[in-house]
Amino acid sequence: MIVLGIESSCDDTGAAVVKDGKELSNIVASQDDVHAPFGGIVPELAARNHVLHILPVIEKALRDADLTLDDIDGIAATRGPGLVGSLLVGLCAAKAIARARDLPFVGVNHIEGHLLSGELDAAVPRPFLGLVVSGGHSALYLAREDRTFGLLGQTRDDAAGEAFDKAAKLLGLGYPGGREIQRVAETGNPQAMRLPRPRVRGAELDMSFSGLKTALWQELEKHPELDVPDVAASFQEAVVDTLAKTTRRALQRVDVKALVVTGGVSANTPLRERMAEVARDEGVELHVPALSRCTDNAAMIAYAGWQKLVRGERDALDLNAVATLPIGPRVEIPVS
Ligand code: KG4
Ligand code: ZN
Repeated sequence: MIVLGIESSCDDTGAAVVKDGKELSNIVASQDDVHAPFGGIVPELAARNHVLHILPVIEKALRDADLTLDDIDGIAATRGPGLVGSLLVGLCAAKAIARARDLPFVGVNHIEGHLLSGELDAAVPRPFLGLVVSGGHSALYLAREDRTFGLLGQTRDDAAGEAFDKAAKLLGLGYPGGREIQRVAETGNPQAMRLPRPRVRGAELDMSFSGLKTALWQELEKHPELDVPDVAASFQEAVVDTLAKTTRRALQRVDVKALVVTGGVSANTPLRERMAEVARDEGVELHVPALSRCTDNAAMIAYAGWQKLVRGERDALDLNAVATLPIGPRVEIPVS
């Protein structure tokens, strides 16, 4: 079965073709240049730019797969969570194609796409723990053998990527902030600035990053003499350490066979290295999808949609976009 997937939940416009679970093409039009002057995503600009990119991106995804719409057996599009104005562009494009071509259509949860994206590279044993870290999300999920999901913990405020973006803005670095902080931090000393490792009382697997940003601001006021590379390295270390410690606690609580780390922040090299250590210590396989499938992309949506379509699932063409869309109920972990 050949599935065309469309993703437009945030600022990247994506289209991809997956055949029997294998990626044939995966096209993303980035809007980084549009949002860079603002140091973060401007929702209305994101939606307007999706309108400009959506058709060329779909056409390129088909061309790269050496196919036309005549070859497509089903359509999948992200229906949430995300920015509603952005989501509607991809969702409406997908529904219009499904209607015009009389093709089966399914809406896909963006987070489910991220969690399954590792399977495009290699089989991931279940149950697995999934850490999704991006500009909009920082959460730990349990992916069970019966293909259901549970939320184990999440950030109470900023996402890790958002924290990187805000810190980069504070340091006068470019956007996306995480990439810039990593680049500048290469020559810095991660111990130069003392920053906290915030924890959420009574919720061991929840995280909080907004306090870290405030602490950074306060430390910068106190120590204006510190070099930007040292500050960047210290901040990166604090975020990586917080993510690694929370993930380790989760692995000690739930019985899983693998750890999947995905989302834009998983591009971070120190985070990848630390997660490899955590996975090795806790005796689970580590799966970090290829970079093109870690950041927002449509291959993961086509893949998750393909699984639904082969199971016989279909959505009606009045399916709406939703800003908040949990993929499963929260799993309560007893406090130790
Ligand atoms: O998944 P993504 O492309 O888009 C969504 O947010 O959905 O993630 C973007 C986020 C940004 O916040 C960016 O600062 C962060 O990923 N990021 C990184 C790196 N590259 C991108 N964070 C840390 N280190 C990186 N190398
Ligand atoms: Zn995402």
